Amino acid sequence: MSQDSNQDKDKLWGGRFNEPTDAFVEKFTASVNFDQRMAMQDIAGSRIHARMLTKVGVLTQQDCEDILRGLDEVEQDIVNGEFIWSVALEDVHMNIESALTAKIGDAGKRLHTGRSRNDQVATDIRLYLREQIAFIVAEIRRLQNGLIDLAEREFETIMPGFTHLQVAQPITFGHHMMAWFEMLHRDASRMTDCASRMNQLPLGAAALAGTSYPIDRQFSAEQLGFDQPTRNSLDSVSDRDFAIEFCAASALIMTHLSRFSEELVLWSSAQFDFIDLPDRFCTGSSIMPQKKNPDVPELVRGKVGRVNGHLICLLTLMKSQPLAYNKDNQEDKEPLFDTIDTVAGSLRAFADMMPAISCKKENMYNAAKQGFSTATDLADYLVRKGLPFRDAHEVVGKAVAFGVDTKKDLSEMTLAELQQFSDMISDDVFDVLTLEGSVAARNHIGGTAPQQVKKAVATARLLISE
Ligand code: ARG
Repeated sequence: MSQDSNQDKDKLWGGRFNEPTDAFVEKFTASVNFDQRMAMQDIAGSRIHARMLTKVGVLTQQDCEDILRGLDEVEQDIVNGEFIWSVALEDVHMNIESALTAKIGDAGKRLHTGRSRNDQVATDIRLYLREQIAFIVAEIRRLQNGLIDLAEREFETIMPGFTHLQVAQPITFGHHMMAWFEMLHRDASRMTDCASRMNQLPLGAAALAGTSYPIDRQFSAEQLGFDQPTRNSLDSVSDRDFAIEFCAASALIMTHLSRFSEELVLWSSAQFDFIDLPDRFCTGSSIMPQKKNPDVPELVRGKVGRVNGHLICLLTLMKSQPLAYNKDNQEDKEPLFDTIDTVAGSLRAFADMMPAISCKKENMYNAAKQGFSTATDLADYLVRKGLPFRDAHEVVGKAVAFGVDTKKDLSEMTLAELQQFSDMISDDVFDVLTLEGSVAARNHIGGTAPQQVKKAVATARLLISE
């Protein structure tokens, strides 16, 4: 519920003002329509602030009890959808404080002792973002698990590996899935890094300089699950680097998902026809009855734009701001919240989709046979027989040209045909020209051999169980 009105009597800062706020300015400067998302964190911070003030003797035990009871009631009203949000009260902080005072009287007015909305909002965002990061990391883990399961199922499924989107060398589908696992693994670690760097409590910085009350910031930090209080009050209220960092890490997640999306779109096309995306992740066309469109990956690919935009938005917001708090910072929330929603939603869609992807193994196998994907294997074979690599490259190049003319893959040529290019070739060559031989030969850490995929799967399971 929300209420739109110019009620100057409600203003918590009205003392020095002689005329009501302009009606448009009131709406223009308000943030309550979007920052009410942090209501639970705002209440959590207020509970601890009240307990801390009581502990150091600034509030009485009675005030504290009233405040805690009042905050419980406000919380219930919000949860039940009965709270009336007022634009005249500007933001989530003043809406909650005002509702508290309406419920408990003067004790409510004492809650804001020794604090400012500047350190309050800096605390709320951190509390909120911390929870959201935990959720995002959990979604990354779910997606990683899906990839591991796919890799395990398809550890020896052969597909063409590409460079320049041209067939390059045969690889295993499992190996390809584990490449996505690795990218997401770094993404998750960037997120947890960001969460640990920002896990310092700004509350106590007050407006900018600290407060004259004998506050116990260590207590508040511990109670709110922060590693420690921030070390500098000016920095505490003014920087939003943690939000920028989060958006940067998010932009990378989205970038990775966009590449993943692109492949799913290509692979599910009639031209590639490598995989089947289940119907429930696709939509049809209103005009073309035959269409089954890979909407989910397409949409995720498209959503990168807004996240990249939010990153630039926050960087630009922070640029050149003089210390300490400036109202500019109120503009941090919408980009941040939309980034959270976009990343969490995209990860969720992908994690849900993974178990349902099915491979069209025969199509992948046939595609890997095209494009002379074992040419490097033939060159390596000649090197093992004593030819310098550059000469081997030349020999195989000629064999490929012959194959292009005669429409034959290297593995389809006779021994005599192959021997025209080098007399070092003997009948053991066919072992390396098969797709199976080619992938099995890349049997080292990080290689595409099925045995390595199995090992990578085992390592990955350990990595994400830590
Ligand atoms: N709504 C404000 C924000 O999001 C809260 C802090 C306002 N502080 C102030 N001095 N006006 O940044």
